[in-house]
Amino acid sequence: MRALICKEYGPPETLVLGELPSPPLGAKDVRIRVRACGVNFPDLLIIQNKYQVKPQLPFAPGGEVAGEVLEVGSEVRRIRPGDKVMALTGYGGFAEEVVVDEHRVLPMPAGMDFVTAAGFTMVYGTTYHALVQRASIQAAETLVVLGAAGGVGLAAVELGKVFGARVIACAGSEEKLRTAREHGADELVDYRREDLKERIKALTDGKGADVCFDPVGGDAFDAMARSMNWNGRLLVIGFASGRIPQLPVNLPLLKGYQVVGVFWGAFVAREPETNRRNFAHLFELYAAGRIRPHVSHTYPLEQAARALDDLSARRAIGKIVVTIE
Ligand SMILES: NC(=O)c1ccc[n+]([C@@H]2O[C@H](COP(=O)([O-])OP(=O)(O)OC[C@H]3O[C@@H](n4cnc5c(N)ncnc54)[C@H](OP(=O)(O)O)[C@@H]3O)[C@@H](O)[C@H]2O)c1
Repeated sequence: MRALICKEYGPPETLVLGELPSPPLGAKDVRIRVRACGVNFPDLLIIQNKYQVKPQLPFAPGGEVAGEVLEVGSEVRRIRPGDKVMALTGYGGFAEEVVVDEHRVLPMPAGMDFVTAAGFTMVYGTTYHALVQRASIQAAETLVVLGAAGGVGLAAVELGKVFGARVIACAGSEEKLRTAREHGADELVDYRREDLKERIKALTDGKGADVCFDPVGGDAFDAMARSMNWNGRLLVIGFASGRIPQLPVNLPLLKGYQVVGVFWGAFVAREPETNRRNFAHLFELYAAGRIRPHVSHTYPLEQAARALDDLSARRAIGKIVVTIE
């Protein structure tokens, strides 16, 4: 099968288009003909050997897909050949076929196309879990979203509004902030030009954020660690800036706030029922038009390395999806 292959660790330009053998099918597995594959930050990390999952070389990256089921293993009960599905693959999605455990596969909701479905699972699944199970966000709380026009960031802007929060979107360009506004943000901060800590102070009458959603880390985390309200929750989502920050723990003590880790993949494995309920609600919100997944670019498989390069150069807005004809 055709695939975008990582033969040696390195940046996106080291990936090559080629042939890989079709993966074998186990009793609990589903084989999917991939139609579209969402591009995510961990794809960038995995090809550079900087991610916790370390597949054997050569492999195809690509952590989430949408497509049609070709065949299922003898113990699979929920999914049938011909079903249209979305799935979390971890890697292997930038290829014509992928094999994945049934528990990581969801039927696509009616009315959703392959491109939207391929960019949906990771960002909305992570964000819903972060805001609901980890932050217990309440209506009228102030939610600060960093990287607010990125994949998880834009989903956090939308879901923050769904849960009735006042959303302050922080991003690094006018175009990104415009997109966050179109998806419901109440206030905008350009943290490449403005002082994040001062702006949050001004926008919250000196109180700070009730909830901060942080997929960026680095300097933005440092500023938010000094900008949290009493009883606040600072959600640690990721470190797209490249720096894992250190926290002086007197800050949460003095302000009476919590620093809360979010690891959606581990949550799915440990609490699959809760995750299924989350998705049932997410699909209702999608059907009602209350969340609007934003795919800014699609690339064919032949140009998938460019898609990853856009992400690493901070050019992506919302999701980028690779299509596989
Ligand atoms: N904890 C979990 O379960 C979980 C699940 C999914 C993703 N994540 C993590 O969340 C982070 C974001 O993922 P994503 O898929 O949303 O990525 P993304 O679409 O690329 O968004 C990341 C955002 O970070 C900002 N950023 C700041 N410095 C950057 C830099 N040096 N390079 C790239 N981006 C930079 C960018 O916004 P500005 O230019 O506006 O600053 C960008 O929009 C990643 O670290 C990922 O691993 C964690």
